[in-house]
Amino acid sequence: SFTPRVFSGVQPSGGLTLGNYLGAIRRFVDMQNDGIETIYCMVDLHAMTVWQEPDALRRNTRELAAGYLAAGLDPTRSILFNQSQVPEHTQLAWIFNCVARMGWMQRMTQWKDKAGKNQQNASLGLLAYPSLMAADILVYHATHVPVGEDQKQHIELTRDIAIKFNNDFGVDFFPITEPVIEGAATRVMSLRDGTRKMSKSDPSDMARINLTDDADAIANKIRKARTDPEPLPSEPEGLAARAEARNLVNIYAALSDTDLAGALREVGGKQFSEFKPMLADLAVEKLAPISTEMSRLMEQPDEIDRILGDGAARARDIAAPILAKTYEIVGL
Ligand code: ADP
Ligand code: NA
Repeated sequence: SFTPRVFSGVQPSGGLTLGNYLGAIRRFVDMQNDGIETIYCMVDLHAMTVWQEPDALRRNTRELAAGYLAAGLDPTRSILFNQSQVPEHTQLAWIFNCVARMGWMQRMTQWKDKAGKNQQNASLGLLAYPSLMAADILVYHATHVPVGEDQKQHIELTRDIAIKFNNDFGVDFFPITEPVIEGAATRVMSLRDGTRKMSKSDPSDMARINLTDDADAIANKIRKARTDPEPLPSEPEGLAARAEARNLVNIYAALSDTDLAGALREVGGKQFSEFKPMLADLAVEKLAPISTEMSRLMEQPDEIDRILGDGAARARDIAAPILAKTYEIVGL
């Protein structure tokens, strides 16, 4: 059996969104404070699966680190680092590329969504992404991965890779990792389209709330968020066929640490003209301290780089022996 250990990552492919915060980073902080060993990564190599301007990638990586720190991750209690600074991730990913099957990758809904109609023109890295993600997790023998609902399928694939590796080589070497998906806002949707997830890679800035948005921007985006003309219902069932309304109440619930039912006890019956300003005030109240701290940290890039360098060294101390043992198992 394996010692409990948490790993998770976020791509520095753009500014952090409210979806990343509620679905991932806020829960990273909770797990850090639970006393379990926690390893959090900026997955810069994953970001590269779609084109990134080199300067933007560098800036977004520092901004993501600032976001982690501002949201409450403590580099003395968690390991924080860049994926590309720990080469064991890509070394293990190659072995997993040879364990995983093409069909497993081609079935992933994120691959289908991101590659779009012209799959032949997508990068090979975009297809192989879940194999690198499995390596990110398993190179630490991580047992638990806090992620949003959108990543559940990739964690299942990580489990399939671990199971096949263990079977192929007749070992019990890699743990069968559990996704940790909980809370009201495990899936925050776009403000413009209730069927798409809020994402930093959405071309429309109005579709998302960024952690660096100021109070006016947050209020404006919520005011213009797509809704329907009905007042809010008093029970969650009343939101079943109202994706946009459901999303806004879900965000309200997550920001006030309750669930849909709890939020509707407070705001059920209200019109959007009344509810939207309440949601905007709450979002500003919760996000302003984070964005202020992020700006302060962004003025100290050397300090951020020092923290990440130290994190990478500590991460390698765990990953290197696990990779060495993997090489021995497979005959390298
Ligand atoms: P993005 O889609 O913004 O590029 P990533 O793929 O880097 O996000 O995901 C980083 C983490 O944030 C993952 O744990 C993912 O599940 C979570 N996450 C991303 N978007 C959302 C969302 N809209 N709602 C909830 N969680 C999300
Ligand atoms: Na993603």
